[in-house]
Amino acid sequence: MSRYYVTTPIYYVNDAPHIGHAYTTLACDVLARFMRLDGKDVRFLTGTDEHGQKVEKAAAEKSIDPLTFTDEISQNFRNLADAMNFSYDDFIRTTEARHITSCQILWRTIAERDSPKGRKNIYLDKYAGWYAVRDEAFYTEGELQDGPGGQKVASTGAAVEWIEEPSYFFRLSDWQEDLLRHYAENPDFIAPKSRRNEVVKFVEGGLNDLSISRTTFNWGVPVPDDEDHIMYVWLDALTNYVTAVGHPNVDDALWEYWPADLHMVGKDILRFHAVYWPAFLMAAGFALPKRVFAHGWWTNEGQKISKSVGNVIDPFDLTQRYGLDPIRYFLLRQVPFGNDGDFSHKAMVHRLNGDLANDFGNLCQRVLSMIFRNCAGKIPPSHGLQEEDFAFINGIAGCIEELRELMEAQAFHQALELIWQHVGNANRYVDEHAPWELRKTNPDRMESVLYTLAEGIRNLALLTSPFMPDAMARVFEQMGVDVDQRGFDRLGSSNALASGTQLAGKPQPIFPRFLEEEGD
Ligand code: MSP
Repeated sequence: MSRYYVTTPIYYVNDAPHIGHAYTTLACDVLARFMRLDGKDVRFLTGTDEHGQKVEKAAAEKSIDPLTFTDEISQNFRNLADAMNFSYDDFIRTTEARHITSCQILWRTIAERDSPKGRKNIYLDKYAGWYAVRDEAFYTEGELQDGPGGQKVASTGAAVEWIEEPSYFFRLSDWQEDLLRHYAENPDFIAPKSRRNEVVKFVEGGLNDLSISRTTFNWGVPVPDDEDHIMYVWLDALTNYVTAVGHPNVDDALWEYWPADLHMVGKDILRFHAVYWPAFLMAAGFALPKRVFAHGWWTNEGQKISKSVGNVIDPFDLTQRYGLDPIRYFLLRQVPFGNDGDFSHKAMVHRLNGDLANDFGNLCQRVLSMIFRNCAGKIPPSHGLQEEDFAFINGIAGCIEELRELMEAQAFHQALELIWQHVGNANRYVDEHAPWELRKTNPDRMESVLYTLAEGIRNLALLTSPFMPDAMARVFEQMGVDVDQRGFDRLGSSNALASGTQLAGKPQPIFPRFLEEEGD
């Protein structure tokens, strides 16, 4: 069975989970579910990034020791993942013993090997330069701007401070050519294309060696054989992707999942994943992940989402207000994945009423109610389908080929658009065949038309279920589709639901409808 290993970034525990976090993990969840339904052996990893100065500071502000603090906030992220119905296989915390061992061994492996220029990959020196705690990143003078009050800030807006301390360095500069070669030979390694070009330009501009240890605080993984140093939090954090598949036990069955098929990240953390991480892995002699996709950022009604502006969108509130699956749908349908997007309640209500309540919801409600009333609550006999009926059903089932390509490209909005074209076709099929008329003129044909439509809905629900698993499970329950009959191997008219299958009772609407003013 082919494997599929997909990862989310691990979330900093200095903050409460918000819509941005939910968005990244949602994208991975939909991919994980799609691949599972498509017969793959999937490993879906998420978790929390718990070391570093930022977390240490956040804990100190609350006068709590960092471990108690991280226990609490990490749990909030786990709660979010459960509330959003994310089907993760593992939730890693960087404070776990398995991870600390893994980081120390990865460090040793890198340190023992030479760079492509025959020099030690790790050396001790002194760091003197700018550091932004908020980004947990080092910046050069040229990358800084004047911020409010004449203070120096990074291009991300994060305040920087000057630090000078002994530090181990990773010889990143020696890896420039290998990185560029990898990008050239693997054009799909970084997506979308525009972001790939940015990374290539950055690396072509030359790389500085990277400071990978700190001595002025303690909240981190100790550097092996030098207890004055802790590891730079990004080296620690990135290592989670291999820890979770068994590193350093490369004989472990889990290691079979490496290299990851996809690291999903936000655009703000692409450099860490597409430059530093591949360089660390090459230095350690490990295979590189197959792809890194950087998605865009959400703003709230036109404004950057930030705690200080006070416009953070709480995913728990949203799901209470609109329902979970509608939110999952909206986030992936509204904005081309990879672009930035603006969140607005108006747009949300408009889309949910149009695409879900009207298009998909009405289709199911109309067809299943007609079957319930006119066919004794059972999937009717097909009476031999006509060519157009087969074409209709298999047209839906057949779009799995194109969907696979779109999902491999993380084009979620296009995948949903494609499925919804077929939802539109199904509604047209209802109107054109008017089964309510046939009831009087040709009851057998009415039954074939309703049978065809039920099959259409079953196939549409199969394709939609990675995006809206609960809502589609309700469709399946209403139609009597068993739990083990919900994989993509059941697509198509040759896997049809048996005539005579009992509906679960009087059909209930699957999607809520909202008043326009609820979006104001
Ligand atoms: N801890 C690091 C990642 C380490 S991975 C080895 C980190 N954590 S984070 O909690 O700050 O951010 C995690 C993810 O949330 C990032 O992918 C980021 O892009 C995403 N988002 C945070 N705010 C966002 C929006 N407003 N919109 C969309 N995604 C955003 O970075």
